[in-house]
Amino acid sequence: MNITYLGHAGLSVEVAGKHLVVDPFISGNPLAKSVDLASLKADYILVTHAHQDHILDVEAIAKRTGAKVISNFEIVTYFENRGIVGHPMNHGGSWQFDFGTLTYTNAIHSSSFPDGSYGGQPGGFILESAEGTIYIAGDTALTFDMKLIPLKCKLNLAVLPVGDNFTMGYKSACMAADFLACNRILGYHYDTFGYIEINHQEAIEYFKAHYKELNLIKIGESINV
Ligand code: NI
Ligand code: MN
Repeated sequence: MNITYLGHAGLSVEVAGKHLVVDPFISGNPLAKSVDLASLKADYILVTHAHQDHILDVEAIAKRTGAKVISNFEIVTYFENRGIVGHPMNHGGSWQFDFGTLTYTNAIHSSSFPDGSYGGQPGGFILESAEGTIYIAGDTALTFDMKLIPLKCKLNLAVLPVGDNFTMGYKSACMAADFLACNRILGYHYDTFGYIEINHQEAIEYFKAHYKELNLIKIGESINV
């Protein structure tokens, strides 16, 4: 499995020959200028919640590629009303797709659309595949529910927000790594706006001091599982 960072909370996951785009916020992110939105491959688009910084480019990518949107019921309905095919899920539910099994997990956050309409409850995803298992937390606080995840599966990588202010910061993310029984973390949701700028070296050292690995990779760079 190959995971490429698209900036902010955006990821491109290549697994079982399929391309999954997660929470694309590229055209509105000056830091992600190097990402070519027009050539991004997508068979599926995973959306954790309805905030603008997670859905901005969903419609453009879906209409160009025909990708199916996977999210909570309310978000899928919103995009279906715009002519995009979707697969609705809700918390605790799993579904076997042709690339692996997804479970929609709990997140402590909010989930309104940019126009204020209801975007369901926010979530994250566990992706279990023959190539490994990862957890993409979405925007969330540290939550005790994370302790349930290692009871269900063994994670090879956890993608956690580390930017603080709107989500947990890196110190809580380090505790989340304990809850998840996963010492390999990919940090995201940082540096995009002033509120979430972090000191990379401090964050990386903090994880090291707790015998964990925090990866803060450049936009466009990849990590393998
Ligand atoms: Ni959000
Ligand atoms: Mn966000």
